[in-house]
Amino acid sequence: MIIRSIDNVEKIRNEFIEHGFVHINVGKVTVDIVKQISKYFGELKTFKQETYMGEEKQVLKVSEDAILSSNAVDWHRDMCYDPEECHGSLLAFIECDTETYTEFVDCNIAWDHLDKETQDYLKTVTSTYAGKPIWWDTRPDLLKDAISRIIGYEHPITGQTTLYFSPETMVHIDKPFQTRDYVLHCEPFAFKHYWHPGDILVYDNIRMLHRRPAFNCHRVLWRTNFNYESYN
Ligand SMILES: [Fe+2]
Repeated sequence: MIIRSIDNVEKIRNEFIEHGFVHINVGKVTVDIVKQISKYFGELKTFKQETYMGEEKQVLKVSEDAILSSNAVDWHRDMCYDPEECHGSLLAFIECDTETYTEFVDCNIAWDHLDKETQDYLKTVTSTYAGKPIWWDTRPDLLKDAISRIIGYEHPITGQTTLYFSPETMVHIDKPFQTRDYVLHCEPFAFKHYWHPGDILVYDNIRMLHRRPAFNCHRVLWRTNFNYESYN
């Protein structure tokens, strides 16, 4: 479903709770629009990077000349590579001279397709995340403030359990866990979002894995990160 108005807060929130993923397109993208939508969910985070839009540093410009450059970024959750929590993200398409996509997996579905014995085991396994190893030289805080979470993770808002892991940012796991096997388990549930003018995506970082292929063009997206207000 594509939501064509940002005025119906309940519709946007309900879509997010039901699917962990919301596609909005109102024909234009402005700093005020992306901030307004993000605030429907909670408190916006402030970015440390220098490529922000607006004085409050709450909207990050993501392009090929920023930290991720134009390289492929494998399956991950955004809340795994920063010492601060990031429960949800918004990505807005600004410009690109060729067609590109970002790919998502709903890990609630991936969880539901595991057998009960595996689910019970994964509720006892804890993994630790600290961002891509190539970032540790410039962001030692990522390693110092590594975050640990149970693989069978219960969502603080919906109460649903999800298959919580982030292959790209995983640095430790306390019990046997074949990461590659679980990636292969998830990939049949993946879907690609091809970016078009006006597109705004909001996704739940607890529930969704995402990745992108390398691209060979000039591409600009804006991003906000937010934390759920009711989550403690
Ligand atoms: Fe990401």
